Amino acid sequence: MFKTSITEMLGIEHPILMGGMQWLCKAEFIASAAEAGIMSFLAAETFPSAEALRQEIKKTRQMTNKPFGVNISMLPEVVHEDRALEFAQVAAEEGVVAVETSGRDPSFLIPILHEAGVKGFHKVSLIRYAKKAIQGGADAIIILGYECGGHPGRSDVPTSIILPRAVDELNVPIVAAGGIVDARGFAAALSMGADGVLMGTRFAVTAESPMHDNIKKRYIEVTEMDTTLIMKSLKNPLRCYKNWATDEVLKMEARGATLEEILTIVGGKIGRAAYESGDAEGAPFPCSMGAAMIKEINPIKQVVSEIIEGAHRILADLRKMEGQKTFETQKS
Ligand SMILES: Cc1cc2nc3c(=O)[nH]c(=O)nc-3n(C[C@H](O)[C@H](O)[C@H](O)COP(=O)(O)O)c2cc1C
Repeated sequence: MFKTSITEMLGIEHPILMGGMQWLCKAEFIASAAEAGIMSFLAAETFPSAEALRQEIKKTRQMTNKPFGVNISMLPEVVHEDRALEFAQVAAEEGVVAVETSGRDPSFLIPILHEAGVKGFHKVSLIRYAKKAIQGGADAIIILGYECGGHPGRSDVPTSIILPRAVDELNVPIVAAGGIVDARGFAAALSMGADGVLMGTRFAVTAESPMHDNIKKRYIEVTEMDTTLIMKSLKNPLRCYKNWATDEVLKMEARGATLEEILTIVGGKIGRAAYESGDAEGAPFPCSMGAAMIKEINPIKQVVSEIIEGAHRILADLRKMEGQKTFETQKS
């Protein structure tokens, strides 16, 4: 067991969070994650209205009595403040444990959450945005390295650098994200001062993930060389595995296409259709560089217990190495 400020704050068993994932994070998937002792977030943007989100929260509650949260992604030009506020209001009224925000400063919705005792976790890739969110009342920061699946923001800094920087600079609990898929990443993040980890891609490729099997199999084949960043020209990069759709988007960007044109391939509904039909080429699929280390499609509980048990083994091995070094030093 690893007990940290994050397990305390959220009332969860393990300091592990599953990041919000559009189209995937619905009731059944969230309830499975909650039952595995981790925190996860219903993806608000997936629902047509705040009322639909409320129904999904109620549905999740019928499947689990463990804590879970709501993700409110606020991508510039796609999501409007009013809509984000409506989602925050429902999350507060329904008393979920935490809200994960991303894409824009969450300060305008934190008071609504705090009034209902809901914790605000803001996901960012830059220290200065983290500081702004903390000033606005964020309870914890999810610091995101460039390796991550989805939107890494506009900094090119990997988790191994941005995480210790965040630990040094910020005065709230820190959750590490970006490229973490196994016990090694978990143990390394905690060693660098994180109070927990958040993973997306690893959980997208689990037995309970509602993604079509064809696509899960494709993630398993991805190596560290097989992801790419699309939409850099729109100042909103998105890391996906390379396929027909990402090639098309990169060609469009090279000839200066507009957001509207690019959305004909990147648009949420196309992604949703491809997730369900199993067309692994038909849409850009957010994917971490860390997918290179994912070898099996296992149930969430197994993924979590392998991480926790693996991390204990890593710590024990390190202790042994420390002992050997002392022994060698004594000999010389
Ligand atoms: C398939 C997929 C969909 C995602 N959708 C969202 C989303 O809707 N909102 C969001 O804030 N982050 C989204 N993300 C990012 C994750 O929440 C998380 O920040 C990221 O996956 C962490 O990096 P990792 O993939 O290296 O673990 C998505 C990631 C994946 C893999």
